[in-house]
Amino acid sequence: MAERLSGKVALVTGAGSIGPGWGNGKAAAVLFAREGASILCADINADAATETAELIRGEGGTAEVFEADVTQTDQVEAMVAACTSAFGRIDVLHNNVGIVAPGGAVEQTEDDWDRVMATNLKSMFLTCKSVIPIMQEQNGGSIINLSSISSLRYMGINYVSYPTTKAAINQFTKVTAGQYGRWNIRVNAILPGFNRTPMVDNAVVDMVQQGTDPDMTLEKYYAWREDKIPLGRWGDAWDIANAAVFLASDESSYITGLELVVDGGATLMLG
Ligand SMILES: NC(=O)c1ccc[n+]([C@@H]2O[C@H](COP(=O)([O-])OP(=O)(O)OC[C@H]3O[C@@H](n4cnc5c(N)ncnc54)[C@H](O)[C@@H]3O)[C@@H](O)[C@H]2O)c1
Repeated sequence: MAERLSGKVALVTGAGSIGPGWGNGKAAAVLFAREGASILCADINADAATETAELIRGEGGTAEVFEADVTQTDQVEAMVAACTSAFGRIDVLHNNVGIVAPGGAVEQTEDDWDRVMATNLKSMFLTCKSVIPIMQEQNGGSIINLSSISSLRYMGINYVSYPTTKAAINQFTKVTAGQYGRWNIRVNAILPGFNRTPMVDNAVVDMVQQGTDPDMTLEKYYAWREDKIPLGRWGDAWDIANAAVFLASDESSYITGLELVVDGGATLMLG
């Protein structure tokens, strides 16, 4: 086991995966643990979080599970209390939860709009509200918010609430970084690009079928995107988790308010 996060405690939201394989939160939780951190694996799906915690324990790491819906204040407060009660502190808050819903401004339902706003954006407000006072007491901490390059560009996918929340997350990250830097609390965003995770396999291709291309298939989608990535390959959850380890660790101790794009250069082509 490496030591870049030795002695640190990380709370990872959405630490499971919505399908088989590696989501970003699952990979981050496992890599944080490999680097020596103790992890609270939080997820609305307890089985998914348990799978991640068992993988960590199987490798000799330390992890606990907490079932929580991060859109609910009482559940977020209980999740944060569970983390401090299990491990005594919170050094890293990894705000990974994010969902998508189909449709542009005309087609998307109001319920879907509200659900995506609450899940992607309000959740980060709630977790920060509970965790920042603990980090202030500790005089330090690293908060990592999962955004997306869709916050910067039109991606050719019509899912209006998703990029809207991600753009708001970028600014939430910056203003929160500005305000709480005095307590040595760093707040940074990761903007993944085209990442092959269960979220894409399960939801994104369906949305393209319903939206701009009824004939879209998983294979066609992956090939279509690959042309737009200068590094010539899709990213995966480990590319994002590696960036997260850097932002969680003291190696990034002078970095805050950053939008860290991890996209193989895709935004250069979409510019
Ligand atoms: N996969 C990509 O290509 C990509 C690209 C850009 C950004 N991202 C971002 O990365 C993050 C993670 O993506 P992923 O692909 O790992 O997703 P994922 O769907 O595999 O994992 C997300 C986890 O969050 C959990 N979750 C959902 N709603 C929740 C809630 N209300 N409370 C608690 N847990 C909840 C799910 O159960 C799931 O285990 C998201 O914020 C996503 O927007 C992903």
